[in-house]
Amino acid sequence: MSIQLPDSFPASSSVAGRRVVLTGASGGLGRVLALAFSQGGARVALVARNQGALEKLAGSLPGESLICQADVSNAADNDRVAEVVTQAWGGIDTWIANAGISPVLESVLDMSPETWRQVQQVNLDGVFHGARAAASQMIGVGQGGRIVVTTSVLAERPRQGLSAYSVSKAGATALVKALAMELGSHGITVNAVAPGWFDSPLTSFWTRNLNRSKEITDHTAIGRWGLSEDLPGVYLFLASDASAFVTGSVLTVDGGYLCL
Ligand SMILES: NC(=O)c1ccc[n+]([C@@H]2O[C@H](COP(=O)([O-])OP(=O)(O)OC[C@H]3O[C@@H](n4cnc5c(N)ncnc54)[C@H](OP(=O)(O)O)[C@@H]3O)[C@@H](O)[C@H]2O)c1
Repeated sequence: MSIQLPDSFPASSSVAGRRVVLTGASGGLGRVLALAFSQGGARVALVARNQGALEKLAGSLPGESLICQADVSNAADNDRVAEVVTQAWGGIDTWIANAGISPVLESVLDMSPETWRQVQQVNLDGVFHGARAAASQMIGVGQGGRIVVTTSVLAERPRQGLSAYSVSKAGATALVKALAMELGSHGITVNAVAPGWFDSPLTSFWTRNLNRSKEITDHTAIGRWGLSEDLPGVYLFLASDASAFVTGSVLTVDGGYLCL
């Protein structure tokens, strides 16, 4: 291997001017990601079901944004979002499939088939629909692109009471790897970000209770929960030129939760 580097090295880690679709934008992690990309100069299409929350978020961002009310578990909604953004901005550079739910904490024996399906429909089918919609537009425009999927450390270490959620995230991780192989020749990279434990409505069962919260802290190498500023860096990296040769990977942001 040559030790020479091109004059263009190091590749830019900037997302300025990037056209980014972000699902789950109205939630705890989504709002942080929206702000990070917006502060980085990206245009952000904000996707979720709660129109009012999206409008409030859009009003607080420093840069340009689009509001796209949509249900990610619905294929047609994803197609519509991809078309609207492509029409408005001429293409999509990065699609972040971040929407997710974890509605129950119950054993497999207690869980209804309806609840199981609901979780798969949002967390797994939603990624499938979104990636298909994004890749179709990216291939049509012909400039490549980035797909980033928010999975979870529970994909690798399922927890009791969270079987449906853990399985949905493990499935999404497998889908990321399959998509990476299928889309690489089109210049599209596909990666997962697996967060550890961050304070959000999704994790309120743990944050509400000191002992439960401490259990997480005690099982995290860095000894604390994730903070807002801990998360966006890897998403910005995966959306930038600096990650051009990274695909099919899972970037874990968990303060060492999986080490212990
Ligand atoms: N917080 C953590 O510690 C943690 C750890 C690992 C992974 N994650 C993952 O990170 C992602 C974001 O989680 P969070 O903590 O920000 O959760 P959250 O605060 O509960 O937010 C969830 C987001 O997903 C959206 N959403 C839910 N169902 C949807 C649907 N059918 N269609 C469109 N949007 C939908 C919600 O918006 P609407 O209700 O308005 O639709 C909301 O914006 C999820 O994929 C989650 O699994 C979180």
